[in-house]
Amino acid sequence: MAATFYFDLDKMRWFALRIGVIGTGYVGLVYGAVMADFGHYVTCMDKDEQKIGQLKLGNSTIYEPGLPPILQYGLSTGNLYFTTSLEECVKYSDMIVIAIGTPTGPDGNADVSDVMTVAEEIGTFMLDNKLVVCKSTVPIGTSRKMLEIIEQQLQARNVGYQIEVACNPEFLRQGKAVEDCLSPSRVIIGTETQHAREVLQDIYRMYDQEKIPFLYTGYETAELIKYASNSFLAVKISFVNELAWLSETAGANIQDVVMGMGLDARISPTFLEAGAGYGGSCFPKDTRALVETGAKYNAQLHIVEAAIAANETQKTRMVQKIIDTLSSHHDLSCLTIGVLGLSFKPETDDIRSAPSYDIIKGLLDQGLTVKVYCPEGMRQAKLTWTEINERIFYCDSEAECADQADALVLITEWGQFRNLEWTKILATMHNNYLFDLRNMFTRENSVTELFHYYAVGVGV
Ligand code: UDX
Repeated sequence: MAATFYFDLDKMRWFALRIGVIGTGYVGLVYGAVMADFGHYVTCMDKDEQKIGQLKLGNSTIYEPGLPPILQYGLSTGNLYFTTSLEECVKYSDMIVIAIGTPTGPDGNADVSDVMTVAEEIGTFMLDNKLVVCKSTVPIGTSRKMLEIIEQQLQARNVGYQIEVACNPEFLRQGKAVEDCLSPSRVIIGTETQHAREVLQDIYRMYDQEKIPFLYTGYETAELIKYASNSFLAVKISFVNELAWLSETAGANIQDVVMGMGLDARISPTFLEAGAGYGGSCFPKDTRALVETGAKYNAQLHIVEAAIAANETQKTRMVQKIIDTLSSHHDLSCLTIGVLGLSFKPETDDIRSAPSYDIIKGLLDQGLTVKVYCPEGMRQAKLTWTEINERIFYCDSEAECADQADALVLITEWGQFRNLEWTKILATMHNNYLFDLRNMFTRENSVTELFHYYAVGVGV
């Protein structure tokens, strides 16, 4: 297996970059494909044989815009290779990137046991010097612990290979992952050796360093930057969702409030859209983990705690609003709801911690009949929502979902919902309620005038 060689004009030398990526989830797969697209030689490893089988054929295992072409291009050039063997991945890589999940553990903290197991295995299989880069979101102290575990393993084998560890958190957004990976907002490199920094600088030399800031820190700071960023964004959302509730009850309009606030450059209107609450694989998990880290270091994080609680309340409020509105005119047990959008956000098939689950469950528990449609999220929902699946009707289109429904509840703002023929949709419905939990149509009178229309944070 040959490495790809580059000529570095600055340093006047040839060098080869071979990257191993462990884990082919939303982060690892996109990162591996983009690095191969940059010309690096990338071996992606995952223990899931079925997944690797599909990836070897060039079939993307996740829905992520822009990913299939770079995946297929990487395979065709030979720069991207897939394996289920960790040993092979370690052997043929100079730098090994860990991109495996750190799910919420029983105590609310991130469970890093898989990361530690991989670290140990790297120490077992290493046959030369390695740089191990942690892209998984990991609590403070994990990178240092990984280094320790690999060193112990090398000592036990009585071999003297050099091992370096760096923490290089990933900030990509699902649905825009390829775009974000090609041009990240920043590159954070937490490491303790000059050599590791230089290798990462080489790896990322395709990034325009004039435009993309690079920040070099120690391990603990890099680890905390990731949690702090996600938690701050979650705080923004919970803040605006609480104000949306106030706006709604007090007769104000949250969208105008945000616009007014955002005119102050210190505040900015971005990431302040009121909605059904945040979801996904990161915010719910990372906010909880940060609170646990705070507790561990005796630093209670009141604001993050409040953001988590407000997010739970927001989902309950959405259900309550629908129930209160409908029950004042109808017998709930006779009503059918059509839910549009299951994924935690548009342009992804990911339903992890999606608000749709709690909202649908809340509606079912009130005796309503629920039909659902989502452009990409239904496959995962059918596989994982075992508790409620027997009570849900999955539909093949928006039209089927609306047919004979009394109300539509829009939970995820997929762009295609904007182009629906709403008059035709309405004609097949039994009643005409539209709960727009993402404020998608607040400014489109042609839609709102057709329905009893309810948005989030818009006073009636
Ligand atoms: C997030 C971070 O943005 C990203 O940097 C990190 O690497 C991973 O976590 P992601 O989970 O893909 O990315 O989604 P994001 O676009 O941040 O949205 C998260 C949730 O917040 C979604 O449920 C979304 O609907 C919600 N959201 C977002 C709002 O409710 N309002 C907003 O204004 C923005």
